[in-house]
Formats: sequence, structure tokens, C-alpha cells
Amino acid sequence: MSSFIRWVDARFPLTKVWKEHFGEYYAPKNFNFLYYFGGILTVILIIQIVTGIILTMHYKPDVDLAFASVEYIMRDVPAGWFVRYLHSVGASMIFVALYVHMFRGLMYGSHRSPRELIWLLGMLLYVAMMAEAFFGYLLPWGNMSYWGAQVIVSLFGAIPFVGEGLAEWIRGDYVISDATLNRFFAFHVILLPLLLALLIYLHIVALHKVGSNNPDGVEIKQQKDETGKPLDGVPFHPYYTVKDTFGVGVFLTIYLAIVFFLPEFGGWFLEKDNFAPANILQTPPDIVPLWYLTPYYSILRAVTFEWLPGGAKLWGVIAMGGAIVIFFFLPWLDRSRVRSIRYRGWMFKTMLTLFVITFVMLGYLGTKNPGHVDLIWFKNVTWAQIGLVIYFAFFLLMPIYTRLDKTRPEPDRLVK
Ligand code: HEM
Repeated sequence: MSSFIRWVDARFPLTKVWKEHFGEYYAPKNFNFLYYFGGILTVILIIQIVTGIILTMHYKPDVDLAFASVEYIMRDVPAGWFVRYLHSVGASMIFVALYVHMFRGLMYGSHRSPRELIWLLGMLLYVAMMAEAFFGYLLPWGNMSYWGAQVIVSLFGAIPFVGEGLAEWIRGDYVISDATLNRFFAFHVILLPLLLALLIYLHIVALHKVGSNNPDGVEIKQQKDETGKPLDGVPFHPYYTVKDTFGVGVFLTIYLAIVFFLPEFGGWFLEKDNFAPANILQTPPDIVPLWYLTPYYSILRAVTFEWLPGGAKLWGVIAMGGAIVIFFFLPWLDRSRVRSIRYRGWMFKTMLTLFVITFVMLGYLGTKNPGHVDLIWFKNVTWAQIGLVIYFAFFLLMPIYTRLDKTRPEPDRLVK
């Protein structure tokens, strides 16, 4: 074996790469369970690609055949139901992991210098993942697939001057049609997976350049022993390869339990309107995207003020786009003296808690009819408007409250 490795090493930097990124890559020794999720994301993405390849072998991207081909996968292809549910539940699980991963970053200040690029590449991953999910959702050609795509693509129509032409260009037709299904299929199976793989690679390269942050927000590279190894670090292998395997194992157990026992997850992972084929004559009573996109959908629908120049729809689209774009600016909006929430004061803690509650509330409201009352006191649309204000206040006031906040001094070494 060792002579084989020597042979490879003479031609390819195998041992060097292994040492640099695993065997002699030092990671802080205080990672908690929130640090499992990057690894978990990578594993589910691989599962999505493998199950996606198998689904593509049996799926037909044609408006006359698509719905039936998914039913065929579910009923006739050996273990087809398993592969399809792994893929559909996997889509939701990826977003669960993604939201926890982003929240972890916010808590411990992982978006702060020198990790701004990791954060920006992460945000590109988030947007690419949303696009990937959106394109994939049209493929079963269910009634919600059709109407969901219709609503989202028509949003481009709100852009002044070029909007209508742009929406038509995206659809390849005046309505969602066979041309749309074909191009969404191409985007879903080739374009975005390639882009996602590239972005993940860059995300990890950027991470390994500066090293991981940790729950204490301490820069471990600043305290080294005489051999140049960080005093508060441990080699990634075997310490974190073993620990991450455990975390991924627990996550996979929960994921498989859902696949086997609750694959539709009460309509949250697969909507009931999507069990009927697309019908241009029958609009579903409430057109809603899947749960991971509903916070933004809520923001879109919260702007109901027709007196705004250009109309409410245009400003709804701007607010929705702005809600995503503003995340990119986080590294520069946060002006705190310290990184981790452990050393921050009550202002940041309160704002972050409020933001998380608001994000969940907006997500819930996005699945409901705006005119109904599903929470207390007000109609859903009023709650969404309150949510919109809190959402943007969290970001726009950040330079002020992070500076005013009373922080505790960060230690030089890890505390626990
Ligand atoms: C498919 C999507 C993604 C994958 C596969 C991925 C993968 C990873 C991995 C493997 C790590 C190192 C392990 C860890 O810290 O958990 C990491 C760290 C990180 N990721 Fe991601 N990530 C993704 C999306 C995102 C997104 C959407 C963001 C935020 C906008 C983000 C921000 C970060 C940050 C800031 C770190 C460094 C954390 C620290 O050192 O404390 N990632 N990512």
C-alpha cells in the first residue's frame, strides 16, 4: 500500500492534501453540535445527487408524461418510492440543516472578519439552493408545481419596462408550458448541481484558508506552541471525522424515520395539491411554495399598498429580493467588538431572538391565506407587515445596536 501511495504522491499531491485538510488541519477543540451541520449538508447534498440520478433514469420531462412517470416511479420501479421520498424529504432536510448552519454563524459571529468570504459564498449557496428547489418543484407537474411556478415567474413581470419580456423569456412561452418544463429540468439536473458543487468547493477552500471560528469566537491560530500547532486546536482527523460521523448518523436516523413513517410530513414536505396533475383550469385555493421559501413569500404578500409608485406588486418583489440580499451585507452591518454571542450584551441577544421568532412566524404565515386570522388579534397580512418591519430592523439597525451593546471581553484562550 505504501509503495502505491509513494507512486501516486510522485504524480499527485495526495498525502500533502490529506495532511493539509485532515491529518494536520487543526480545528478548535470546543465545537458543539451546531458544528455538525456543514458536514450534514455535504452528506445530504450527495444523497440528493445520487437519488436524483436514479430518478432521472425513470422520469420523463414532458407535460403529457411527467406526472405519470412520477407515479410510475412510486408504484412500479423497484424501491422507486424509497428513492423518490429520499429525494423529496431530502430537499426539506437540506433546508433544515441550512437554516441551523446559518443561525450558528449568526450566533458565533462566523460572518465577521476574516470569514466574510465564507459567508458570501454561503449566501450564494443559499440562493442557488433555493433556485434548485424551485426548479425541481415544477418537475412532477402537479397542480401546485404548475401554479407555484406561474406565480413566481410572473413576479418578474412586475419589473418596469423589461419585466413582461423577461418573464416570457424565462418561461419560453406565454404561460408555463412544455418549454418551461424542459428548461427547468436542465437547470435542476445539470446547471445548478454543478454550480452548487463549485460553490461548496470554494466555501471549504475559503474556510481552510482562515480556519474555523468556534463557540467562543476565539482565533485559535493566535496562540501556538513551539512547534507551531494551535494550543486550542485538535487535528481534524481523527477527532472530528469521528465526531462528525456520529452527528451525521443521528441526522440520517431522523431523516430516514421521516422517509419511512411520515414522508409527506403533514403536507409540509409534499403538498396535497401536488397529488393531482397540473390543471390550467383549476387554480388551487391557496397557492403557496414549500415551507423553506414561505418567509420570503410572506414578505412579498405583506406589501399591499397600492399607492406606492409602480404599485404594490413591484414593491413586494423589491422587499422580497431585499430580504435575501441584505443577508450578504451582514459582515459589514455587524459592528460589535466581539464575535460570539457568549460575550455580547442583551441588545444583540434580544434582536436575534426576535428575528428568529419573526422568521418562523413569516414562514408560517406564508402558508396561510393573508385575509384569514390564524394567529391572534390581527389578520395574517397585518402580522406579516409587523414581521416585515422587525425583519428589516434587525439588519438595518444592526450597526447601531451592536455598537451600543455592552460586551464582555473575549478571552485569549478557549474557555470550555
Ligand atoms: C449546501 C450548502 C452548504 C454546505 C455544504 C456548507 C458546508 C460547510 C462546511 C462543511 C463547513 C465547515 C463545518 C461547519 O462549520 O459546520 C461550513 C462552515 C461555514 N459555513 Fe457553510 N455550507 C453551506 C451553506 C452555508 C450558508 C448558506 C452559509 C451562510 C450564509 C454558510 C456559512 C458558513 C460559515 C460562516 C462557516 C464557518 C463557520 C465557523 O467557522 O464558525 N454556509 N460550511
